Amino acid sequence: MTTHDTRPGSTGGADTPGPLYGGPDDDYTPEQLAAMSREDLDRLGALHDGVQVLHVDPGPEPGSPLEKRYVRQVGTVFALAGLAAFAFIVVYLGSGWFLPDWEWTIESGTWSSLFTPMLGLLMGLSLALVGLGMVLYARKLLPHETAVQDKHDGSHFDRVTTGATLVGGLHNSGLARRKLITRSLAFMGGGLGLMLLMPLGGLIKNPNTGNPLGRTSWGEGVRLVRDDGTPIRPGDAVPGSLETVFPAVPGGNHESDAATMLIRLRPEQIRVNQPREGQADYGYGDYVAYSKICTHAGCPVSLYEQETSRILCPCHQSQFDVTQGAKPIFGPATRSLPQLPLGVDDEGYFIALSDYPEAVGPTYWNRERI
Ligand code: FES
Repeated sequence: MTTHDTRPGSTGGADTPGPLYGGPDDDYTPEQLAAMSREDLDRLGALHDGVQVLHVDPGPEPGSPLEKRYVRQVGTVFALAGLAAFAFIVVYLGSGWFLPDWEWTIESGTWSSLFTPMLGLLMGLSLALVGLGMVLYARKLLPHETAVQDKHDGSHFDRVTTGATLVGGLHNSGLARRKLITRSLAFMGGGLGLMLLMPLGGLIKNPNTGNPLGRTSWGEGVRLVRDDGTPIRPGDAVPGSLETVFPAVPGGNHESDAATMLIRLRPEQIRVNQPREGQADYGYGDYVAYSKICTHAGCPVSLYEQETSRILCPCHQSQFDVTQGAKPIFGPATRSLPQLPLGVDDEGYFIALSDYPEAVGPTYWNRERI
C-alpha cells in the first residue's frame, strides 16, 4: 500500500505503512522544545506517537479551479447561515418598531401568530446551514488522512507536541489563505452570536413594558355586559345572585383576565359587609364586583354559596368571603380577589369606574403588587 504524508516537514514520499519518522529515543528539555518551530514540533509529535499514515487524500490543489469552486460553495453556505441569523435578529427586535407588533391578543392577526414560528424557523435554518457548511468544508476542502497512533501518556513532551499538532491542523486546514471562507465565517459567527443572545430578550426587550399583567380591558366608563353582550341595570338580578360579566369592548367576552363576578348581596349580607380599606365605595347599592380569577393559581372561581357568603375555587378549594372584600378564608390562596369599582352611566347601566386597582390572577406573576 502506498502512503503519503502531508504534514509540515514531510517529504511526502511513498512508503509502506509504518512509522514515517522513526521515534525520539531521548528526552527533550523544555528549553529545547521551546526553541523548535511549530512544524518541527508537529513532526516530532508524530515521530513520538509512532503515527502510521495509511492513506492520504490531500484535497483539491491550492489555487485550482476545483478548490475555488468548493470555497465559493462553502462560503455561500456560511454567509446564508449568517443571513438567517441576522434575519432572526431583525424579526425579534423589529417587532413593534418597524414591523407589526407581535404581542398576542384574542384578535391577533397573522403576524402575531407567525412571530414565534418565524423565529424558530430562522434559528433552525441558520444552525442547519452552519452544520451543512462544516460538513461541506470537511468533505471537500480538508485533506483526508487515515492513520493510527499510540496512546499519549500526558508528559510535558506530549503536551507540547500535541499543541503543535493541533495548531498544525489549523494551518493545514487552509482557512488562513481561503479568505472568502474566513470572511463568511466571521459574518456567520457575528450573526449566530447575536442570535443566540436574543433569547435573553427579557434583558434586551422587557416583556413587562406597559405592565400587561397588571391591567385589563376594564376602565372608566366601560359597561358591564353579559357573555351575549347585553348590558346590565341594577335590579336586573335578585338579591343573592351572581352573574359573570365582561367589559363592553370588542372581544371583551373572550378576555379571560377581565372576567368578573357581579354579585347582588342580600340584606343580611349588607349588614355585616366589611369592604377592604380604601374600597368602601367600590360597590354600587347592594352590588359588588370581584375578579373571577383565583389569586392562587388562576382558576375561575365560580361556586357561590350565598348562605355563607363564600365563593369557592374548584381547583384547590380556596374560599373567599364576599362580605369581607373577598378575603381568602380557606385554602391556599393568600390574596383577596381584586374588586372592580362600580357605577352607573346616564342610561342606567352598570359601568366600571376604573380598571382593577391591582393585578388580577395568581400572586406569583404580580408579586410586587401584593
Ligand atoms: S387555583 Fe384556586 S385554589 Fe388553586
